[in-house]
Amino acid sequence: MEFQAEQLRNARHVVVFSGAGISAESGIPTFRDALTGLWENFDPAALATAQAFRNDPALVWGWYEWRRAKVLGAQPNLAHLAIAELARHVPRVTVVTQNVDDLLERAGCHDVLHLHGSLDLPRCFACARPYALGAEPLDEPQGGRRIEPPRCRRCNGKVRPGVVWFGESLPDDAWRKAVSAAKDCDVLLSIGTSGLVQPAAEIPRIALQHGAQVLHINVQPEPVAGDREFSLAGKAAEVLPRLVEETFPG
Ligand code: OAD
Repeated sequence: MEFQAEQLRNARHVVVFSGAGISAESGIPTFRDALTGLWENFDPAALATAQAFRNDPALVWGWYEWRRAKVLGAQPNLAHLAIAELARHVPRVTVVTQNVDDLLERAGCHDVLHLHGSLDLPRCFACARPYALGAEPLDEPQGGRRIEPPRCRRCNGKVRPGVVWFGESLPDDAWRKAVSAAKDCDVLLSIGTSGLVQPAAEIPRIALQHGAQVLHINVQPEPVAGDREFSLAGKAAEVLPRLVEETFPG
């Protein structure tokens, strides 16, 4: 069975759940795509854990600064813009993202729930005080160079990236709001995610269990079960604008 546009047209509350694939066409690498995925070329244990930061803070900080520079140089694509457009038609849209970039916000989406934190919100590794970033970072084509992290202005601790690392808990408030939106929505659009990282990957499942229609948009067709789960294969920046345009013409 195919996803019917009426589901979306009549929806009272839509949850958009996004992963790295939504930003792929803005030139931001995903994590798990063969050849181009970040985890094909870098070791998560050496870069995305608290232990990695303790072992080699300059390596980790430099790598995240490289990623932050990539995002600063990127623009929202048609998929980000389509979500902002969707929010103009549906009474309530909750955007839940695993992305650490700000391209959804720059496209005009409001109150985005960042389950995995944000590249723009570093904080002290020791006392957790937020750190205001200053000068723009350099873009390095090879994945970054070592850069000593700045120091906390209160306790002189090392400043860490504001992202969730493997083994860390998700931000409480964002997680609670995401679960409650998933339980409440009529339609959930899951866009550009491999659905492999827990607990974030539970969000579409929670929506399904609570009676929502779930539509996966991914370059790969996604396996679906039951009569409320659907898959639309294609690039998010092509599929999503078409879906929004067909559902809310004019
Ligand atoms: P992944 O890299 O695991 O998955 C990206 C997904 O996007 C894949 O399923 C691709 O098929 C799909 N994709 C690629 N290009 C696309 C396009 N143009 N349009 C639509 N889909 C496309 O990224 P995430 O699912 O976001 O965690 O990964 C989840 C988490 O794992 C990340 O948030 C990150 C990572 O480790 C943390 O940093 C904590």
